[in-house]
Order: sequence, then structure tokens, then C-alpha cells
Amino acid sequence: MNLPDLKEARKRTKKEVVEKQVDYSIAPSFLGKKYFLKTYGCQMNMHDSEEIRKYLELLGCKEVTTLEESDIVVLNTCAIRENAHDKVFGYLGRCKHLKREKPELLIALGGCMSQEEGVVSEILEKHPYVDVVFGTHNIHELPLLLVDAQNKKQTIQVYSIEGDVYENVKYSRDSKISAWVNIMYGCDKFCTYCIVPYTRGKQRSRRLEKIVAEVEELKKNGYMEVTLLGQNVNAYGKDLEYGYDFKDLLESVAKTQIPRIRFVTSHPWDFTDEMIEVIAKYDNVMPYIHLPLQSGSDAILKKMGRRYTKEEYIALFKKIKERIPECSITTDIIVGFPNETEEDFLETLDVVSTCGFDSAFTFIYSPREGTPASLIEDSISKEVKEARLQRLNALVNQCSLEKNKALEGKIVPVLVLGENEKDKNKIYGYTDTMKLININGSKDLIGRIVPVKVNEAKSFSLDGDALKESEMV
Ligand code: 5AD
Ligand code: SF4
Repeated sequence: MNLPDLKEARKRTKKEVVEKQVDYSIAPSFLGKKYFLKTYGCQMNMHDSEEIRKYLELLGCKEVTTLEESDIVVLNTCAIRENAHDKVFGYLGRCKHLKREKPELLIALGGCMSQEEGVVSEILEKHPYVDVVFGTHNIHELPLLLVDAQNKKQTIQVYSIEGDVYENVKYSRDSKISAWVNIMYGCDKFCTYCIVPYTRGKQRSRRLEKIVAEVEELKKNGYMEVTLLGQNVNAYGKDLEYGYDFKDLLESVAKTQIPRIRFVTSHPWDFTDEMIEVIAKYDNVMPYIHLPLQSGSDAILKKMGRRYTKEEYIALFKKIKERIPECSITTDIIVGFPNETEEDFLETLDVVSTCGFDSAFTFIYSPREGTPASLIEDSISKEVKEARLQRLNALVNQCSLEKNKALEGKIVPVLVLGENEKDKNKIYGYTDTMKLININGSKDLIGRIVPVKVNEAKSFSLDGDALKESEMV
């Protein structure tokens, strides 16, 4: 048994990036067993689930779409806010119930929650029916742990110190059109509210040539789009000693000529002018940047450890817009950081009005055990925080609607991803600026970039008609 340890997870030791090949030969036969995989949280987790799925397939298992049908259930969890925890513990209740009827059911819990001391002690004390707990650093051990769990009782294997950078990882990808590509793991920023540097470990960048090779391979297999993933992509390469950084990576990936390249998430502090130039220069680097603001108040930004001021954020925002006027910029904002005053909050609203984001994810601050901010005594009530969130959302939604309305009547390039779930007569995709659009058009267009005339704009999506390719502007 290996339990998580937050103090260990905090340590940052200087070490070489060692690449380790993943050994798949450990997979014994779980032939024909049915598994249900449930993913919570961010794109990083969704991509990890593509790796988990691959291992389960290598064990000979088949995916099912409901918990009730399954012999193995894997929960890939998120720890970013308390409500993510609550959802998982709620779902474990359903798993427990099913296990009463089906005692041979195997229940595995992985992802960020597994990296937390408090969660694992709760599992040990209150959830003995959970068979396997695995962490973010040993996804590749899942087949072994499942085999162990069949024979023994609970198997808890979580490492707090991140391992090597794994290469040659295989994925069973969700899409045949758009793929996620990890460019780095972990984060060294330690924003004071954030659990990620503990659950995901030290920043470890993959080697540039390995990333480019993965993109080349995806392109060869017909992929139209890659999204480069990292907690702070602009810091890419800083942990390596090869002298290259994110602008070099982005340029190398652009030169593969894969039709569309996106990247998330950006951190204002590491965003350089050269990076803006590369985004502007290459047509296949999409004009879309997710640039978390978190707060508009200098005092709160300082307490958050964000390393920029309101003025610096706005200056960067304007610089991007001047160089790439069509660029859409989205953001993340936290309200109710401990002792946030009404004046602090008004500063946040001011940045939102000044910038006019294309969209924003907004959150109420949630204290995370082990983070510095969780130790601050907070004088602001839950009601005040909720009211601020509502006020912020009203402004954010108004901005999104205005941005989207500006597209009405325009022709935009859309990568068509599939059939619309609700209306089978329609297809859907994303514009170059990352706006979801539902389209009247033929299913033959799936997997292609097509011009679409925007008919109607809403706050969270657009509606449009597919045009002939010759009508692309
Ligand atoms: N409470 C609320 N929101 C948080 N985020 C990260 N940590 C917390 C927290 N403790 C938000 C940030 C981040 C996004 C992914 O989640 O806005 O950018
Ligand atoms: Fe968390 Fe992002 Fe800050 Fe890293 S940069 S600590 S992932 S909020």
C-alpha cells in the first residue's frame, strides 16, 4: 500500500527528465469483462481516460455505457473544488449499492482525488468496498492493480512524488477528428488556492521532437486538429535544458501542417511577445486563447500568487487583440477568495467590462486542504459569494452574447465534429475561435473544415447553415 502525502507532493527537486517506455505485457486476460469509465474534470482528465480505456481494452475488456451493466467501474476524479469531491462520493454510493447485488464488481478510483491524503483516509475508513485506488502518476499500473484486487482486498497505490516522463503511451481516443496531445505534466506555479501542483506534481515537459512525432502520426491517421495540453503551456520547456520554449514548440507543430492547432491553458505571466507572433503567423494555429484572469484586484492577485497585476493582464489582453484582432479570448474567474472585499470584486467586474471576454468559466472559491489559501481566515459569507457569482455571470453572459451576436450574418470556418445529439438532422462543430455551432448540413461534412453562415447567436452557441467549400472567406 502506498498512501498520498501532501508534504512530499509539495517538494520540487531538480532532476533530469527520464523517459520511460510503458510495458503493456503485464496485461493478463480479463477477456470479455465489461467496464464503465466515468470522467470528472478537465481536458487533462479526459485525455487520461483515453489512456485508461486503452489499458482496459488491452486487458480484453469491453466498454459499456451504464454503471449497471459493468463488471469493472473506473472513476477518474477531479479535486479542483469541493463540489467535484461531493459528486464522486455521491456516485460511490451508487457503486456500493450495485456491489451488494454483484459482489464480484471491481471498483477503481483514480485521478486527482486519489492524490489527496484526506480522500484516501476517508476511503480507508468509510468505503472498504472500493477495490483499487490509483493516482495520476501510475495510470499505467492500473491493469496490475486490478489483477491484484481480484485476489486481495483493497489495493491502494498512490505516489506523491511524480515519476519519469512516459513516452510511447497508447490511447484509445474519443474522437477520430480532434486529438489531445500532452506537452507537459504537472505545474510549478503554486497559485495559493490551487491543488493541482500537489495532485499532478512537478512540471515535466515532454521533448519537442516526441510531441512533433505524435502530431505527425495523428495527421497521418487523418486527424484534423490537435489540442496541446498542459496546466501552464507557456512555461513549456522551462524544466528542460534544451533551450527551446513554447513558441518553438508551437512553431514546430504548426510546420507539421496539421489543419488546426489549439493549446490550453495559458498563464499570463509566461506569455511572451514571441508566442503572440507565432500564433499570428501560422494559419493553422487557431485564433483562440484561454487566459485565466482569476481576479481583477491587485490585492487578491497578490494573495493568490498570480504574479501579475490587473494593469498587466489588461495590457497583455490588448497586445494580443492588437496583433490578432480576430482572436477570441476566454477566461477563468474565482469569486470569494478569502476576505475579498466589494471593492476587490468591482475590480474584477471592471476587467470583464474592459476586456469583454468571449466566454468565462466562473467559480466560487473552494478551500483545498494543504494549500496556503485554505489556512486564511475568511470573513465573507457564503451568501455574499453566491450573490457575487450571480452578478459576475450576468455580466459575463452579456459579453458572450455581444461577441456572438457580432458573428451573425458572417461566414466562419468550422471543423465539423459530428451529429447534433439533440437534433439528428443537424451537425455540430467549432469555429476557428472555438465557438460551438449547430449547423444545417449533410453528415458527409463530418471531419471537414467547411464555411458556415451564422444565422443566430446565443450566449453559449451559434446556429448556422453549411455553405459550399468555394464560399470560404
Ligand atoms: N476554488 C475555486 N476555483 C478554483 N480553480 C482552481 N482552484 C480553485 C479553487 N480552490 C479554478 C481556477 C482555474 C480553474 C481550472 O479552476 O479558475 O483556472
Ligand atoms: Fe493551478 Fe493553474 Fe496556478 Fe498551476 S497555474 S497552480 S494549475 S491555477
